[in-house]
Amino acid sequence: MNQFLKEVLNDLSHSPKTLNSKYFYDGKGDKLFQEIMDCPEYYPTNCEMEIFTERTRDLAITLKNGFNTFDLVEMGAGDATKSSYLLKELMEMKADFTYMPIDISSTMVKHLEDTLPLKIEGLKVEGLNGEYFDMLEKANQISSRKKVVLMLGGNIGNETPENALEFCRKIRSYLQEGDLVLIGFDLKKNPRTILAAYNDAAGFTRDFNLNLLNRINNELGGNFDMEQFEHYPTYDPATGACKSYLVSTTDQKVQISGEAFEFKENEFIYMEISQKYSVEETEEMARSTGFKAVKHFFDHKNWFVDTVWQCV
Ligand code: AVJ
Repeated sequence: MNQFLKEVLNDLSHSPKTLNSKYFYDGKGDKLFQEIMDCPEYYPTNCEMEIFTERTRDLAITLKNGFNTFDLVEMGAGDATKSSYLLKELMEMKADFTYMPIDISSTMVKHLEDTLPLKIEGLKVEGLNGEYFDMLEKANQISSRKKVVLMLGGNIGNETPENALEFCRKIRSYLQEGDLVLIGFDLKKNPRTILAAYNDAAGFTRDFNLNLLNRINNELGGNFDMEQFEHYPTYDPATGACKSYLVSTTDQKVQISGEAFEFKENEFIYMEISQKYSVEETEEMARSTGFKAVKHFFDHKNWFVDTVWQCV
């Protein structure tokens, strides 16, 4: 049985029902996420873009950190829009490094390998297509050079704080003392600002959530009626957890690949967490997972931080 089906059947058998937001990103989901990033309410992308375009030199100096030669590994590179500013700056500084973009999409990785060396002359690209940790392992097999790992976009927010700790420990286990990581965290701020970012007026975030039901219909022989589910975004300022739910508007039965699932009216599916942190919490996370925080890069509103950690 394929992994996606296995997880969906398992996650919907739990009480409360859940689905995993890592499955949001099929072709349609990628497009919807692009739309979300273009929404006026969705600030994280613009904040991190500001850091990469206005603090480029400082970022490059911090990450080069006296290494003669290193590998720059990016977890979930996507189209590398933000990181390409850094790559360009590092090339201009004559840094000796290979860019190793990791992505789950083979077309993305191929695209980066084909286009980046044309845009940034002399850049060495070694794409890694697969899951994060399998590909970190592969990066170590390919080369034993110092590693600088990028994890941008606040993607770590899609883990619960507890799982984020485990995730960081796992990254640390693939690295050596002195290696660097740069992680983007979305920060706690006015609760209305956060909630609005996950409840855009145009409804792209709603469609982004509902699209997973559609994906289950298409790929796993499901028969979800998207009209019978309502998107319910929440933000809890006490914990920093921004969570989204799909709430069944009626008693209903859904079939997926021959299995039946019952929904009561107002029963919900927990879809996604996008955890917000304080700067202190990110520093504590570094300390407890084998790193020390060496530098913070903020946007001018202090809404987002790209933090640089060193392996101790
Ligand atoms: C891609 C994980 C950074 O959590 O802000 C956007 C995904 N979900 N709107 C985020 C998302 C709803 C996004 N990340």
